[in-house]
Amino acid sequence: MDIRVYKNEQEIGEAAGKIYVDYINANPSCVLGFATGATPVPTYTYMAEQCKAGNVSFKDVKTFNLDEYCDLPKEHKNSFYMFMYDNLFSKVDLKPENIDFLNGNADPEAESERYRKSIEDKGGIDIQLLGIGRNGHIAFNEPADEFSGEAYKIKLTESTIEANSIYFDDIPMPRYAMTMGIGSIMKARKIIFIATGAAKAQAVRDMIKGEVTPKCPASILQTHPDVTVFLDEAAASLLD
Ligand code: F6R
Repeated sequence: MDIRVYKNEQEIGEAAGKIYVDYINANPSCVLGFATGATPVPTYTYMAEQCKAGNVSFKDVKTFNLDEYCDLPKEHKNSFYMFMYDNLFSKVDLKPENIDFLNGNADPEAESERYRKSIEDKGGIDIQLLGIGRNGHIAFNEPADEFSGEAYKIKLTESTIEANSIYFDDIPMPRYAMTMGIGSIMKARKIIFIATGAAKAQAVRDMIKGEVTPKCPASILQTHPDVTVFLDEAAASLLD
């Protein structure tokens, strides 16, 4: 793993965003896997600014996302699709037909197969962006007895519900989500991983220094050949 520590999330946003901008300029029809949550927002902001300034175009880029809530309309303000729309999709020149998203309201098995095939048909994901949950989850792969494979429907843990329910002020937070599995994430050619804040420090330590175990799903990244880890000082505070 290539581990880089920065002063704050703004610096990470620029550094990680620049990797995307350079990659897209060199590979204009690349396939990108995105993540939601607070952590990648500065990275999306940087990409959007660069696109607005004419320094990069997303017109031939294809995108996938890690996960989506079940039992929530796609247009609800807290869907992950709307998060991506607000933070990136509406601010760059991505074509709507090049955006693919897990449908949390479809039959889980059929949707898993559709998504797997769609990723495969587009040549696989070139760069997958990841954050981490306080319990070591990546995408919504919660601590478990074994590593998952392709996309599937998962019951969210109390830790994740507690972390994300702050965004739900009108309806209760959904209890289930469709998520890309560990197997699908590990197929990405390159992974950009970002964690910020002291609340992630223990999970980051377990991921980098701990045993590779499904009890800390992010620990599987130790076995991926191309992972760049962006941390702020607080998230890196438990590393030697
Ligand atoms: C979201 C996702 C999650 C988040 C994680 C951290 O698509 O896959 O694994 O990356 O829950 O969320 P934040 O960034 O809000 O702390």
